[in-house]
Amino acid sequence: MKDTDLNKISADEWDEMNFPRPEVQEFDRVVDRALSRRGFLGGVVAFGSGAAVMGTSFLKGTTAMAQQTTRFAFDQIAAQTDGTVHVPEGYDWDVLVRWGDPLFSDAVDAWDPEAGVSVAMSDRVFGENTDGMELFNVDGREILVVNSEYTNRATNLPHTEDGTPGGLDDVRILQNLQGVNVLEIAQGDNGWEVVVDSPYNRRITHLTPMTFDGPAAGHELLQTEADPTGMASLGTFNNCGSGRTPWGTYLTCEENFNGYFGSSETSTDQKPIEVDEGYARYGIGVDGWGYDYHLWDARFDTSLNHNEPHRAGYVVEIDPADPTSTPVKHTALGRFKHENAAYALAPDGRVVVYMGDDERGEFMYRWVSRDIYVPGGDTSTLLSEGTLSVAIFEDDLTGRWADLTPETTGLDAARIAVFTRIAASRLGATTMDRPEWIAVNPTAAEAYCCLTNNSRRGTMTDLGEIRTNAGGDAMELNGPNPREANRFGQIVRWRPDGGDHAAEGFTWDLYVMAGNPTVHPDGPYAGTANINAGNLFNSPDGMQIDSSGLIWIQTDGDDDNEGEFAGMGNNQMLAGDPVTGEIRRFLTGPNGCEVTGLTWSSDRRTMFVGIQHPGAPFPDGEGSLPRSAIVAVWREDGGLVG
Ligand code: FEO
Ligand code: CA
Ligand code: CA
Repeated sequence: MKDTDLNKISADEWDEMNFPRPEVQEFDRVVDRALSRRGFLGGVVAFGSGAAVMGTSFLKGTTAMAQQTTRFAFDQIAAQTDGTVHVPEGYDWDVLVRWGDPLFSDAVDAWDPEAGVSVAMSDRVFGENTDGMELFNVDGREILVVNSEYTNRATNLPHTEDGTPGGLDDVRILQNLQGVNVLEIAQGDNGWEVVVDSPYNRRITHLTPMTFDGPAAGHELLQTEADPTGMASLGTFNNCGSGRTPWGTYLTCEENFNGYFGSSETSTDQKPIEVDEGYARYGIGVDGWGYDYHLWDARFDTSLNHNEPHRAGYVVEIDPADPTSTPVKHTALGRFKHENAAYALAPDGRVVVYMGDDERGEFMYRWVSRDIYVPGGDTSTLLSEGTLSVAIFEDDLTGRWADLTPETTGLDAARIAVFTRIAASRLGATTMDRPEWIAVNPTAAEAYCCLTNNSRRGTMTDLGEIRTNAGGDAMELNGPNPREANRFGQIVRWRPDGGDHAAEGFTWDLYVMAGNPTVHPDGPYAGTANINAGNLFNSPDGMQIDSSGLIWIQTDGDDDNEGEFAGMGNNQMLAGDPVTGEIRRFLTGPNGCEVTGLTWSSDRRTMFVGIQHPGAPFPDGEGSLPRSAIVAVWREDGGLVG
C-alpha cells in the first residue's frame, strides 16, 4: 500500500492509487494494439443499434444527430480548469451547506478551519465529503438526506502530526464526521438554507445503533463479543451513493468499508478459512487506510473481532420522517462495495433494486422482492426477503440475471448474503469496469450503469497472465467492457425482456463510451459518436435520471486536462438524451473536486449538486480551506432545471 494520505482525493481514487495504473507508454501501446485488432472493431460495429450505435460508421455519422431537434433547455458550457462552479447562461447557483456547517444551534461556530471541531460537537455539524443524496417531502417540509462518504484526517485532527489519531477522542471525531446527514432545508429571502434545529435534523455516524434483517441477521458470521445476537450493529460506513424507496425511505450504500478495519495482531486465535477468504476478496488488511480505529476502538481490531467486518458492506434503510427510527441493514441485498441502489417496480408490484459493486472486475447485481409493494401497506419487511441475482452479459447484446441460491452457488442463504462476491464468482458473472451508479429511466423500461474506468482491463501481469479481480475472475475484454486499459469509462444500458425489470433476460447496448477524439481521431479511444470536442469527459460515476427522462451524468476522473485528458477540464455534470444520445455539459466543478450526488426540490425548480473534496479554496474563495459542499442550481426564469 502506498503511503499517500486519503486527503483531497476520492475514496475511489485512493483505491486506484494503491493499484497503480500502467505507465503512459504502456497505455499508448495498448491503444495501438486495440486499434489494430480487426476482430475488436468488427465486434464493436456489431454491438450498434439505435442512438447508441458504435463503431467507425457511427463515429462519422454525427451530422444526423446534430440536425435533430434538441430537448435541452440550455446551451452547453465549455470545459473549465478554475476553482469554482460554472452553469449555463440563464442559470445560477449558490451554496446550500458545507462541511462543518451547524445542523443545531449549539453547534454554531463549533467547526473552525484551523482547529477543527470538538468531540462533543462533531455529530452536530454537517459531515465531510458529501456524496449520494435524496430529497423527501415530509408533511410539506423539504428533508434532504445526504451521505458523508469519508474524512480527511489531517484537517480534522490539526493537533496531531499528520492526522494520525492519538487516542479515542480523535477516532470519535473522525467517526462522527462520516455517515449520513438528515436536514430540513427551506427557501427564504437568502435562497435555500438549512433549517437549524429542525426536529428532522439528525446525524447518523459510525456509532449509531442499527439492526440487521434478512438471511444473515443473527447468523454466527455476524456475532461479536459486544453483540452475541448478531442483530445489532453500530454505524454505517463509507456511505457512497444513495437510493430511495417508493414508500419514502432513504437507502445509503456502504462502499469501501474495508478501509476502517485493521489488526493489532495481539490474538493468536486462527480465523476460520472462510473468514480469511472473505478478507482477501473484500480487501480487509492489517493496516486499514490510516484511520487507525483499530488501535483505539477494539471493535475495529480484526485480531480481536474477526466478524466485525462482516457487519459492514450493506444497503441501509433510513426513515427520514422519523428521527427516532433505527436504521436497518438489509443483508438480503448482499454485501459488497455498494455504490448506489436504484429501484424499479415490476409490473406485478415486486420491488426491484439494481446495485453496482465498485471495484475492478466486480459485478452488477439485481434484487427482486418476494412480496409486492402495496401503497399505504406495511413495507417494513419488503427488503427482507427476495432473490439476489448477478448480471451475465453475452456479446450478442443479450444478457441474463443469474440467481444466487444455495442450489446454484453451494452456499447457504446467510453466506450468500455475507460473501456475495464469492457466490457470484461461482456463477461466472461478467467482470465489469467498476460499476458505479445505476439509474432507472422512469419514462422507459430501461436502466443505465456508469462503468467508470478500469486501468487493468485486458492487461497482463508480469507473468504474462490476464489480470483478474480479487476472486481470480479474468478481466478479459467482453461486450460491455470492450477496451483495454480503459481510462475513460462507458455507460451500459439494458432493457428488460417484456419491459419487466423482474424478468430473467435483457438486451443491452452502450449508451456512451467516453473518449478523446481530439487525441485519438479514430477507433475505440475516440469514444462513441455522441462524444465530441465540445463535451469531453472521463470516468462517469454519479447518475440520476429525472422525471422527464434526462440522464444526468457526474464525473470522478482525471482532471489534469493534459494528454489523454486534454480538453476535459475539471470534473463535471452533463445531461444526456436517452433517445438521440446527445450529451451536453451542464456544470463544471472546482479543480480537484469530484461532482457527486444529485437531487431536486419537490417542484423540480432547484437542483442540488454535491461538490466533494475540492482542491481549490471552494466555496469560500481565496485563502479559505477547501470544503466539500452542496450547491443549489436554478433557472433564473424559474423554469424546470434542464
Ligand atoms: Fe464512492 Fe465508487 O464511489
Ligand atoms: Ca469514482
Ligand atoms: Ca462514486
